[in-house]
Amino acid sequence: MTPTSRTLTVAATALTIAAASLTAVAQQAPKPEQLIKWRQSAYQVVAWNTGRIKASLDGSYNKDEVVKAANTIVAIANTGLGALFPPGTEQGRGWHDTAVKPELFQDGRKVGEYAANFSREATELAKVAAVGDPAAVKDQYAKLTRTCKSCHDDFRAKD
Ligand code: HEC
Repeated sequence: MTPTSRTLTVAATALTIAAASLTAVAQQAPKPEQLIKWRQSAYQVVAWNTGRIKASLDGSYNKDEVVKAANTIVAIANTGLGALFPPGTEQGRGWHDTAVKPELFQDGRKVGEYAANFSREATELAKVAAVGDPAAVKDQYAKLTRTCKSCHDDFRAKD
């Protein structure tokens, strides 16, 4: 290798590294629109699964269905949804305009409390679902959905 071609190779490698780290930066900071889509999607998947549990409670009870649904909710509840609400996403459009209230960005303590309640009741529901007693699932399901309502009352704008 001539000195010139070695210099070129080094320069090309440096450029590749620079490009790779730019990609990493881009991945660390998704656009507000993407974050809003993710959080709306996450809650839609939660609602799909609370709906499956309710259908089982209202109709003929299907333990497998309830276990799958409860495990999905607990996974989403424990995934750190707070990361999808950074400053800069108070307003904007995901799949549709965000319904978040500005208060969510001002009262971190309360949001944390609601998120912890959601996570705790979802975890408990997954445990109860694995046992399979419909009456116990019904009680725990009611406790879980109260955590949705309290957070929505304070932090999600009405339709
Ligand atoms: C810690 C607060 C919190 C908890 C707990 C919570 N939500 Fe939400 N939810 C929100 C916020 C905030 C939005 C608005 C998101 C946006 O539009 O950016 C939302 C939006 C939604 C949406 C609309 C999604 C869309 O298409 O825009 C559904 C459905 C939903 N939640 C269902 C639930 C259910 C069911 C539960 C409980 C099992 C739950 N949520 C628990 C805060 C919460």
